[in-house]
Amino acid sequence: MGIFSKSMTPTMFFIVLSLFLISTSTHLQSYEEGFISVVMPHKGLDFAKDLLINKAVSSIIPLQLPDIEKSVKIPLVGKVHIFLSNMTIYSVNIGSSYVQTGETGIVLVASNATANMIMNWKYTYSTWLITISDSGGASVKIEGMEVGLTATINEQVGTLKLSVLNCGCDVRDISIKVDGGASWLYQGLVNAFQSNIESAVEGAVSKKIREGLTKLDSLLQRLPKTMQLNSVAALNVTVVDDPVLSDSSVEFELNGLFSTTDDKLTFNHYTKKSQASVFCQSEPKMVVISLHENVFGSGALLYFKENYLHWIVDKIPDLSILNTAEWRDIVPQLYKLYPDDDMNLNISVISPPTIKVVTNDIEATIHTDVTINVLDAGEVISVACISLVINASCSAEILRNNILAGIAKLKDFTLSLNWSKIGDLQMHLLQPILSNVLKTVVLPYVNLHIMRGFPLPLPHGFTLQNAEILSADSKIKVCSDVGFTA
Ligand SMILES: *[C@@H]1O[C@H](CO)[C@@H](O)[C@H](O)[C@H]1NC(C)=O
Ligand SMILES: *[C@@H]1O[C@H](CO)[C@@H](O)[C@H](O)[C@H]1NC(C)=O
Ligand SMILES: *[C@@H]1O[C@H](CO)[C@@H](O)[C@H](O)[C@H]1NC(C)=O
Ligand SMILES: *[C@@H]1O[C@H](CO)[C@@H](O)[C@H](O)[C@H]1NC(C)=O
Ligand SMILES: *[C@@H]1O[C@H](CO)[C@@H](O)[C@H](O)[C@H]1NC(C)=O
Ligand SMILES: *[C@@H]1O[C@H](CO)[C@@H](O)[C@H](O)[C@H]1NC(C)=O
Repeated sequence: MGIFSKSMTPTMFFIVLSLFLISTSTHLQSYEEGFISVVMPHKGLDFAKDLLINKAVSSIIPLQLPDIEKSVKIPLVGKVHIFLSNMTIYSVNIGSSYVQTGETGIVLVASNATANMIMNWKYTYSTWLITISDSGGASVKIEGMEVGLTATINEQVGTLKLSVLNCGCDVRDISIKVDGGASWLYQGLVNAFQSNIESAVEGAVSKKIREGLTKLDSLLQRLPKTMQLNSVAALNVTVVDDPVLSDSSVEFELNGLFSTTDDKLTFNHYTKKSQASVFCQSEPKMVVISLHENVFGSGALLYFKENYLHWIVDKIPDLSILNTAEWRDIVPQLYKLYPDDDMNLNISVISPPTIKVVTNDIEATIHTDVTINVLDAGEVISVACISLVINASCSAEILRNNILAGIAKLKDFTLSLNWSKIGDLQMHLLQPILSNVLKTVVLPYVNLHIMRGFPLPLPHGFTLQNAEILSADSKIKVCSDVGFTA
């Protein structure tokens, strides 16, 4: 078992493993950018460690060890043949555990663990006259068990690959309590079988842990690379680049941009500028998920390209049905040309909305054309077009554990006449109507969508708890604790 030698005290054991973390090579600079980053600070690593250890313990027990058979010389008795069978570890208790990260990998140590085992014993020995045999049970307490492993984690074809470099188990001591039998048998068992039992335990536990890590690795590699959001959009959660490990955290970067469900559109031309860090305001949290403004920008671009940002408005809540008669005072010439005709407004976003994340705000700027149409004798006649530049402010929130949703409010807008077939229009008279349309028709529609939000990329079974959201420096940060419910 290499470095896991008997003479090592628990601290030594930990130091030896930690030596592995001393960097020998410099980390390769990231060559691809991700727009969502997931950082697990120490508190999160501790949480993950406890979760892994609990999983490991529950997958280890009951653990069956191979039978041991041996002939031993026992003083005053002679040569005795002893057979131990059905050795089963049925409980494991972890005394303490640590996780430590460094540039080269992760070290996990569970120490001062105890385990309880039961087994059956049987012995036979022959005197010159008869053969004597007996059998019974025994309980074994395994103490001072140390389990440690070192691993690295890398990006491999868009997912994470866990590689175990070293994994071992070391048992300091065992005590055996024999039910029945004689005291010589007890002494014989202890003397002759101590190291056999210890190495059987060490071997079986290491093997189980390796198996568990292989499962964890295949679980990581099966993490989806895209998250389907609806029939139109998906979020690309492909892992880009190797995780960045430091002595206080592990950071993963995901592509993070929206994509169409059929891969028709990809937005990989984005670049990320500032890397300034925002820190969570309150006490340390388990995970910090940062979303660059380009995540939202790519979403807006996708819905723009897929032609979702068009609305035909033929009713305005406060003005009822649109009719030239209603506009008589605002645009008299319209009423003169098309008296008592119904109208509609064709509101079209004409370029991808831009989204900026600044301190405590998410600002969206939307360029929109509003074409005024008259419905005259079954014909749609466009009479004028007004260009709007709309500024909206969005606030983000977390819904149902891990859905990042938003709500937009109109901040202000400017309007200018693009073209008109009915002469000049009084913009200041149109302003209140368009403001009304934006507030009562367009924004509620947009909010219907953005309030549905999208799930943050957490593996299945994990939920956010006590999340707080910060926005600054082109990024939204969700700082949160995590719960596991699967
Ligand atoms: C082995 O142990 C299990 C439970 O620990 C018990 O059900 C089974 O009967 C035992 N087998 C033998 C051969 O003693
Ligand atoms: C190991 O655990 C026992 C109790 O289970 C405790 O008394 C002892 O101090 C621990 N030793 C170390 C080195 O943590
Ligand atoms: C998803 O992201 C990966 C990594 O950045 C990229 O190679 C891939 O083309 C993206 N897929 C889509 C559909 O955008
Ligand atoms: C609405 O206006 C846009 C251009 O601003 C145009 O492309 C679209 O066809 C119009 N839609 C309808 C239904 O008139
Ligand atoms: C929208 O906001 C930007 C900066 O946030 C500002 O420069 C611009 O004047 C605003 N536009 C309107 C129409 O209010
Ligand atoms: C003005 O109208 C023309 C024709 O409908 C359109 O192509 C253009 O995008 C509109 N908006 C602006 C701001 O010029």
